[in-house]
Amino acid sequence: MAETILLTGGAGYIGSHTYLALREAGFDVLILDNFVNAKADVPARLERITGAPVAVLRGDVRDPDTLKAVFRDHRIDGVVHFAALKAVGESMDMPIDYMQTNIGGLLNLLKAMEEGGCRRLVFSSSATVYGDTRVQPIPEDHPRTATSPYAFTKLAGEQILEQLTADWAVGILRYFNPVGAHRSALIGEDPAGHPNNLVPYVAKVATGELEEIQVFGDDYDTPDGTGIRDYIHVEDLAQGHALSLRALIETGMGHTVNLGTGQGSTVLQVIEAYSAACGRALPYRIAPRRAGDVAVLTARPEQARDLLGFQATRTLDDMCRSSWAWVSGQIRNATD
Ligand code: NAD
Ligand code: UD1
Repeated sequence: MAETILLTGGAGYIGSHTYLALREAGFDVLILDNFVNAKADVPARLERITGAPVAVLRGDVRDPDTLKAVFRDHRIDGVVHFAALKAVGESMDMPIDYMQTNIGGLLNLLKAMEEGGCRRLVFSSSATVYGDTRVQPIPEDHPRTATSPYAFTKLAGEQILEQLTADWAVGILRYFNPVGAHRSALIGEDPAGHPNNLVPYVAKVATGELEEIQVFGDDYDTPDGTGIRDYIHVEDLAQGHALSLRALIETGMGHTVNLGTGQGSTVLQVIEAYSAACGRALPYRIAPRRAGDVAVLTARPEQARDLLGFQATRTLDDMCRSSWAWVSGQIRNATD
């Protein structure tokens, strides 16, 4: 019988792609989401892609009773915990809300799992726990630090999980920069308002919603002077979750791994790849550096390969092409 996996935040960007990867890997999946940052039609889109009903509960991880009811009413073999608030800038304005959702929600989940007898968890962490480091590429044993309230919640989450008893199996996955969209072009990243992150911003310039890209600094110590990041296709990232769960189930042992490609790309390389994907040279101008940015952030990816058999296969061109297919499809739908 297939194992049943609970995906908190499963209607969100990474969660919805992971839903599909887990279904492809043979898991049954139950989504729990309060839809604070997800569109209401995501479950219907997942049904269109899979051709099968999608099990979704609308609920909030800040409510302990909701989580307890999930484990009372369903046999859950493992959990992937995505549900969180994730905007670094916003976390500085509302640190308590970030802690309530990201730390309080995790504690509620752990208690409900304990009572429900489920002790397998995959936790969405972030390269943000490495802080501003000059060590590149970054190995998992690099010291951790919190440079924002958001980063604090991820670091605290990791530390809470490290205190659990030995009968828990926990996978801590530190994502680098997830971008791109599902090959169906039916789901993808859909930030409300003004995007903060590079690829969603570039996508809105490509669709004509925004005028030009601002490149935050061209005087970094990198080949073209612009910042380097380790962009990873969201479908590769999603696959990492299926492998993490499989490893937890098969070995009963936890792991902490970076999920990145190990390859860095500059801002100008991203703009060039996106321009090729959408068929038009996207306008940009050089702007001052953004406060808090580091020159380079790339993963050492070997631990995920050795422990999980994980290897990202999709290129920056694949990421930009899939993003463009998704956002241009959205524009077509809106004007039909
Ligand atoms: P997202 O906002 O698209 O997904 C999060 C989902 O959680 C949303 O569907 C939202 O509605 C839901 N949610 C939020 N608060 C909730 C609550 N109280 N109860 C129930 N559901 C709630 O974000 P994402 O990019 O898919 O990120 C998923 C996870 O990965 C988050 O934990 C995030 O911190 C982490 N992460 C993301 C990135 C990134 O670049 N996207 C990088 C590193 C780590
Ligand atoms: C940011 C967060 C990080 C979070 C990650 C996930 C900060 C300081 N870091 O990472 O904690 O985990 O998002 O979503 O907010 N850039 C531009 N123009 C833009 C936007 C970005 O030039 O309009 C540049 C940045 O300077 C950087 C690169 O593009 O060099 C990537 O930026 P971004 O997509 O925001 O990701 P990070 O800063 O790596």
